[in-house]
Amino acid sequence: MEQFTEGAATIIASAGKISKQLSVFYNPVMAYNRTLSITLLRALGGKQLLAADPLAGSGIRGIRFLKELPPGTIAGHFLNDIRQEAAAAIRKNLRLNHARAAVCCQDARMFLLHSQGFDYIDIDPFGSPNPFLDAAVQRIRDKGILAVTCTDTASLSGTYPKTCLRKYWAVPSRTAQMHEIGLRILIRKAQLIGAQYDLALHVLFSYFKDHYFRIFFRCERSKEQANSLVREHGLIQGAGPAYLGRLWDSNIVHAMYQAAPDPFLRTIAAESAIPAAGFFDIHALCKQHKLPIPKTAALLAMLQEKGYAASTTIFSPYGIRTTAPESLVRLISRSHAARQ
Ligand SMILES: C[S@@+](CC[C@H](N)C(=O)[O-])C[C@H]1O[C@@H](n2cnc3c(N)ncnc32)[C@H](O)[C@@H]1O
Repeated sequence: MEQFTEGAATIIASAGKISKQLSVFYNPVMAYNRTLSITLLRALGGKQLLAADPLAGSGIRGIRFLKELPPGTIAGHFLNDIRQEAAAAIRKNLRLNHARAAVCCQDARMFLLHSQGFDYIDIDPFGSPNPFLDAAVQRIRDKGILAVTCTDTASLSGTYPKTCLRKYWAVPSRTAQMHEIGLRILIRKAQLIGAQYDLALHVLFSYFKDHYFRIFFRCERSKEQANSLVREHGLIQGAGPAYLGRLWDSNIVHAMYQAAPDPFLRTIAAESAIPAAGFFDIHALCKQHKLPIPKTAALLAMLQEKGYAASTTIFSPYGIRTTAPESLVRLISRSHAARQ
């Protein structure tokens, strides 16, 4: 076992290569995932939350919430893990951090279904969140926040199309847009599970980063709202069905960016203002039409000059999200190339 510090938490977890076999591990790659969760809950402000971390591992996420969120934000925190070693480590780590939370050691589904419900549930499994979505939507309270992490990116991003169809009920895309489309497919799947219980899962904030998808839903008990969300499902670039609505609530994004102005949030702040599902991958577009690749900044400026919204995207280093049609993007690339 080794000691790790992340944010305001210091924890003890297994050292060595991260794998399912390690009883309790610390994954530094997920530090930003945890930090962004705190940034989002801070941005939401106000309401006291009864929170649950049904797949808590070492407990680091919950401990950071307890130590880094303004006092009183978390009215109570439940940290659960199916492994006894993890539950024991969570207790130790809570003591080490002088933090208080209820610790449980059950299957996450049983833990959730036996509970009275929570205002915040964080589903952070190995791989797919599928096994836990049903119990989570049944136990998230009205107006509560459901956070979902998914590291099953290969299926959702087109490496295993049959698996994607079977597990996420949609055809993925193996193009430059694969990560945005994968995220949208996962959102739709969760929304359909919510809709079965007359629960609308509105997307508050979502992204793809490193090797995972992450979505925060604001959950509302409303048949009408659930129906409206289902009407936002459809095909995108020949893939899907997927959720075609907004990936971000712009008020939340701006509050988050003001509090934590990092490059990732800066890009999201810009693209969250653009009402377009999907983006143009400039490298792919120029290759297809045998055009030289224009400079991104120049292309953005020209699209904006013509009155279209345009920005870079977190989903691809060569992607441009814009309200302009493809014909215009091509035309501008061509005229820009002619001037070079
Ligand atoms: C990705 S880790 C969690 C990491 C943790 N949330 C963090 O931020 O460090 C997934 C955890 O889920 C636990 N787990 C796997 N299947 C479970 C189940 N059915 N019920 C509860 N916990 C489970 C594993 O023991 C593991 O600790």
